[in-house]
Amino acid sequence: MSRYEDVQAELKQHPKTWLITGVAGFIGSNLLETLLKLNQNVVGLDNFSTGHQHNLDEVKAQISDEQWARFTFHQGDICNLEDCKKAVKGVDYVQHQAALGSVPRSIADPITTNANNISGFLNMLVAARDAEVTSFTYAASSSTYGDHPALPKVEESIGNPLSPYAVTKYVNELYADVFARTYDFNTIGLRYFNVFGKRQDPNGAYAAVIPLWTASLINGETVYINGDGETSRDFCYIDNTVQMNILAATAKKDAKNEVYNVAVGDRTTLNDLFTSIKDALLENSQDVKDAEPTYRDFRAGDVRHSQADVTKAKDNLGYEPTHKITEGISQAMPWYVSFLQNKD
Ligand SMILES: NC(=O)c1ccc[n+]([C@@H]2O[C@H](COP(=O)([O-])OP(=O)(O)OC[C@H]3O[C@@H](n4cnc5c(N)ncnc54)[C@H](O)[C@@H]3O)[C@@H](O)[C@H]2O)c1
Repeated sequence: MSRYEDVQAELKQHPKTWLITGVAGFIGSNLLETLLKLNQNVVGLDNFSTGHQHNLDEVKAQISDEQWARFTFHQGDICNLEDCKKAVKGVDYVQHQAALGSVPRSIADPITTNANNISGFLNMLVAARDAEVTSFTYAASSSTYGDHPALPKVEESIGNPLSPYAVTKYVNELYADVFARTYDFNTIGLRYFNVFGKRQDPNGAYAAVIPLWTASLINGETVYINGDGETSRDFCYIDNTVQMNILAATAKKDAKNEVYNVAVGDRTTLNDLFTSIKDALLENSQDVKDAEPTYRDFRAGDVRHSQADVTKAKDNLGYEPTHKITEGISQAMPWYVSFLQNKD
């Protein structure tokens, strides 16, 4: 049995209480669905700044009434310490996902990104420390590698941040490390590499590449590739990310107070990504066979290549990624087709 299977069996036997901040968002709502299916007690905190009630409604539709009754939702803001304190009361494991994502958003408005991602993060750390939770797992980011040229990325070697967003995610790591050393508090940072899957928002100015292109293809709109299309990323399917969050929360003490890459260890160019999405949509009867991308300038703040070394997560946490990019895209596409066709 894998460690993940062991942990899931143990949690079903002895349910815990979890707090998911950013629970109405993409990653938060997927984590919620998995934890409720494991009969856990879950508290959620969200201010709906980029998350949606329909994500919570969708989780509710996937589970039994009894499982849904184990979920308590607080509409609140991590920028407000009292909201954090209220939500974290009686919690065993904190899964801190709430933040403002997107490099371009942070370039357009660094002050708001800083307030949510640094001050909000510090509020959650203080509230969780005072509530004496067992562990505090938080969403870090591959953007912390910045301009470091090495591939694949290993946790110990980072460069200079290339955007305000990257600064905020790096500051999270610094605070978590200081809290571990100063207050003997258990934290684990998960450096996500381009997570994708159902419920990742395809709408808005700051949509991520996979939902954005999928929506454009389905709606018959132009797909723009920034640069020559040879920019590459280690795209990570949501199931791998949920697995890492649960493995991290329940890790032994000596695996804590560390940061871990969350990815697959592969590298896919934007040109290949376009082909994979198009192929998966064709399998879902979408008329996209003649679609071709339009190339435009490179985007400020983007790193050229990104690929993770996931050895540390495998060795210390027992991580075993279950989905490579094409499997993840095949699983996610039917959801996008249904979501985008039912939106009106
Ligand atoms: N998706 C990725 O590829 C990726 C990559 C690296 C890091 N991350 C990080 O993972 C986390 C989750 O990202 P996601 O993709 O699910 O984004 P998302 O926007 O779908 O979810 C974020 C959630 O946090 C909530 N939120 C934001 N600010 C808040 C505040 N002040 N108080 C309460 N709730 C607040 C939003 O309403 C939303 O529901 C974020 O911390 C993000 O920076 C994501």
